[in-house]
Amino acid sequence: MLYPVFRPLLFALDPEAAHNLALRSTAILSQLTPLAKLFHAVIAYSDPITVAGLAFPNRVGLAGGMDKNGVAPAAWWAFGFGFVELGTVTPRPQAGNDKPRMWRDVKRRALFNRMGFNNDGADSVAARLAKLRFRPPFPIGVSIGKNRDTPNERAEDDYRIAAEKLAPHADFLTINVSSPNTAGLRALQTADAMGGLVKAVKGVCGAKPLFVKFAPELTGDELKAVLDACLAAGATGIIGTNTLAATSPTDLPCGESGRPLKAIACERVGEIRKLIGSGVPLIGVGGIEDGDSARAMLAAGADLIQIYSALVYKGPFLAAKLARELKRTR
Ligand SMILES: Cc1cc2nc3c(=O)[nH]c(=O)nc-3n(C[C@H](O)[C@H](O)[C@H](O)COP(=O)(O)O)c2cc1C
Repeated sequence: MLYPVFRPLLFALDPEAAHNLALRSTAILSQLTPLAKLFHAVIAYSDPITVAGLAFPNRVGLAGGMDKNGVAPAAWWAFGFGFVELGTVTPRPQAGNDKPRMWRDVKRRALFNRMGFNNDGADSVAARLAKLRFRPPFPIGVSIGKNRDTPNERAEDDYRIAAEKLAPHADFLTINVSSPNTAGLRALQTADAMGGLVKAVKGVCGAKPLFVKFAPELTGDELKAVLDACLAAGATGIIGTNTLAATSPTDLPCGESGRPLKAIACERVGEIRKLIGSGVPLIGVGGIEDGDSARAMLAAGADLIQIYSALVYKGPFLAAKLARELKRTR
């Protein structure tokens, strides 16, 4: 719709500045409840499904990292998303890595980022969610992480503290142990570490669904062991995948997302589905940009999908478009 007009303006800006501008506009829409409701009435596409005991108006969600501080839940609903995953939120606020830390690769329809969990912290995000003027009628999940200066031996405390603060305001939580931009974080993707971590968070979030999000590089026996440990410790479902570990244009470690991740994420979701069997909720994310890639992710075994990078290239109305296409072609 209107996005082709705005895209050249946004792409003339530094990617993080463009992101902040787009997010600020989205946050304004989120505050204007009658306008958000009007947008929703015109744009959103209903294709309801129940997953993990939650009612989703459609299968297309906003992936973690786009709205790290929960500033625009009503706007995501207005744009036709079926759910949102806010965060990743850490117990204490942190600034993230030095800038520049986000790059576009327009030709490959990819993004590189090394944000490093820049966020307002669990208290601020919890307070924001507690005083939402209008809580949109779709599942609001929150992704939780650890602060960069917390050693992995004390990671359990960070995840538990973040969960204590955020679970009361969320419909589901996600444990993020798969960002490549917090040094050492991915080392938590082991059966040993995850057993305790999931148990600690589950103890706090009780009956609320708890997902765990993994990296695309985790595969084979290691993947099987960690999935078994998570599910045995009480995880409700799995999200695959986070970004690919890559090198930024500034020669630093970063994550790569978008089209280059598409086939790998789809393959990993297929592998996860085989390992966990049918019946365990699975969210597929990575490189979804059109009806074909959305359908491929569902065919691989995902119950729900999420998008991030394609929003940058195609705009926010993509969510409703995908929801419509999925229903039309099922
Ligand atoms: C700039 C940026 C920041 C991200 N931050 C987070 C985050 O905080 N938590 C998280 O779980 N995933 C984060 N992600 C990963 C996305 O949620 C998603 O897993 C990944 O981008 C693959 O999906 P896509 O190809 O549709 O972008 C981030 C991705 C990008 C591009």
